[in-house]
Amino acid sequence: MTQRKILVTSALPYANGSIHLGHMVEHIQTDIWVRFQKMRNHTCFYVCADDTHGTPVMLAAQKMGVKPEEMIEKVRQEHLADFTGFLIGYDNYYSTHSPENKAFSQGIYKALKANGKITVKTIEQLFDPEKQMFLPDRFVKGECPKCGAKDQYGDNCESCGTTYLPTELKNPYSAVSGAKPVLKSSEHYFFDLSSCEDFLREWTSGETVLSNGKKQAHLQPEALNKMKEWIDGGLQNWDISRDAPYFGFEIPDAENKYFYVWLDAPIGYFASFKNLCERLNLDANEWLKADSSAEMVHFIGKDILYFHALFWPATLKFSGYRTPTAVFAHGFLTVDGHKMSKSRGTFITAKSYLDEGLNPEWLRYYIAAKLNSKIEDIDLNLQDFISRVNSDLIGKYINIAARSAGFIKKRFSGCLKNVAGHSLIAHLQAKAEEIAQLYEEREYARALREIMLLADMVNEYTDANKPWELAKQDGADEKLHEVCSVLMNAFKILSVYLSPILPATANAVAAFLNIPALLWDDATRTLPENHKINDYNHLMKRVEQAQIDRLLEANKQSIQPAAVENKADFEPVAPVCSFDDFTKVDMRVGEVLSCEAVEGSNKLLKFQIDLGFEQRTIFSGIAQSYPEPEKLVGRKVIAVVNFAPRKMAKFGVSEGMLLSASSNGKLFLLNVEDGAEVGSKVG
Ligand code: MSP
Ligand code: ZN
Repeated sequence: MTQRKILVTSALPYANGSIHLGHMVEHIQTDIWVRFQKMRNHTCFYVCADDTHGTPVMLAAQKMGVKPEEMIEKVRQEHLADFTGFLIGYDNYYSTHSPENKAFSQGIYKALKANGKITVKTIEQLFDPEKQMFLPDRFVKGECPKCGAKDQYGDNCESCGTTYLPTELKNPYSAVSGAKPVLKSSEHYFFDLSSCEDFLREWTSGETVLSNGKKQAHLQPEALNKMKEWIDGGLQNWDISRDAPYFGFEIPDAENKYFYVWLDAPIGYFASFKNLCERLNLDANEWLKADSSAEMVHFIGKDILYFHALFWPATLKFSGYRTPTAVFAHGFLTVDGHKMSKSRGTFITAKSYLDEGLNPEWLRYYIAAKLNSKIEDIDLNLQDFISRVNSDLIGKYINIAARSAGFIKKRFSGCLKNVAGHSLIAHLQAKAEEIAQLYEEREYARALREIMLLADMVNEYTDANKPWELAKQDGADEKLHEVCSVLMNAFKILSVYLSPILPATANAVAAFLNIPALLWDDATRTLPENHKINDYNHLMKRVEQAQIDRLLEANKQSIQPAAVENKADFEPVAPVCSFDDFTKVDMRVGEVLSCEAVEGSNKLLKFQIDLGFEQRTIFSGIAQSYPEPEKLVGRKVIAVVNFAPRKMAKFGVSEGMLLSASSNGKLFLLNVEDGAEVGSKVG
């Protein structure tokens, strides 16, 4: 078999947040693939790092009163401990704030510049006059220019979904200081992406022929479609500079300008690898040069495809480096069908899972059982988690050893018979390449289905031969020895197949079977005659419901932040309004004379309202909340009567507005106490 050289990465987690189970999906997916490649004897390196630069890190460190360098190093240790707890086996977990990354970033920038890919343009941006800093989009808030929703971020409105520029927000304020931002101009450096269009069309739809002759598409089909859409929509030049103050690397020959975090983040893959190579005395360039025969694959989430499938390959291409062999994107993790939520306790941190004493291999197994090569979201259903782990992992796999190891030890002094050629063993062994192919293609769910079918067969064999009964029969020793030897070998083969997913168990199995660490080829080798195994110690416990309950409890946010979270459901209080302004609005008590649904609109109701001084037609968008409009006849309402008449699309003209309260997505007409006459003024 050709030995491949493969450099593998997971996306670099931001240094300003904790590792949660969403991150774990990605690192588990990557780690399984890497462990599989290593078991196949390929030269495979898995590198990652913390993504440390940018305004959020800078501000977080300021808030804590520490230097950013201090903060990021502490966070890196925490992140690494979390990942290690889940048995993620990086060859290096580094930091983007490293000398290697600085050198690579500046070198790549210089090469891009020499290739005419860098342009400079003066742009106007919002500036916080109090903090004396330019504000990233996410640090400007204000009212949505489209729907008026308050407290929206500077890039898009969470209420109506419109995207816009921060300068388009109404009544903007700085989320850092609360000050009103001012427009200020500054020179920015751009990577001329539009001139890379031909290359990007080619690269995104291209493939690489691997050293083993197989072809690997650069992108998954869904990702390719998305990229095509983006390219067709026109590639914008990419702003890669930020003004001081910024936590990052300075741009050479530019005063007080820093590389935008997303420029040096993927370069962090190279830096982490280079740092590893220095330790191992390897030539990094052999892997990173333009014509390298080594593979480089990136595992990422779907939200950062744009950066990995467009910016990154273009950056590499036009600075003279190799481009990625493939970008493998995955979907997002939901818990019990919902986005992870702090108030429900389903925003589960990696640390809390480990601290509650849950076995990391349970999660690895469950996630693997859900993963495939597509960009689909995957759900962690906690009940399903308990039952799959207990019934499949423990019930079908672990129990094979638990039910037969004791007899070998007690009755045959730990020695096995050679069972090469036994039909069950031969059947299990024959699946090695098929299962390997599924791992290679990241079809872990299918691989596990195959493996569990094999486990079912082994269990049927156990049930058919009942070693516990053979043990009681006279003269059945020979048979008992064979059955248990078959089971030990079957268990070994299944352990090989599961070992990318369950590395700790695989090691424990190797120790128990008294053999070296498992490699893929071990699946097709039977243990020799008289091979002596060690004592069996139980390999894995069952998940208890109480553990899951405790996990959710541990992740429920304390009362205070939860209250803040709920508060988000309320409209923030509007800016001060003078009494004079208020009296401009003429509101009156009216009575509903008639009310009907409007054909062609599922929102509007059409009212005839008696206002005392006259009758008017008023449309109100409350149809969803009042499915029986005729029931409103006779009811007193409050109406604004001095708005200019407003045309309601094709339905007619509204001569006023009815007041209602909006609550949980429903609208409630305001009531008037008995005794208030029609036409009376409200205020
Ligand atoms: N720092 C950038 C990546 C730079 S790579 C050169 C970043 N960091 S992140 O911490 O926000 O996300 C890291 C990875 O975790 C991303 O690939 C992201 O898609 C993934 N996930 C974050 N939340 C996730 C889920 N809920 N589910 C699955 N993956 C998710 O982006
Ligand atoms: Zn809006």
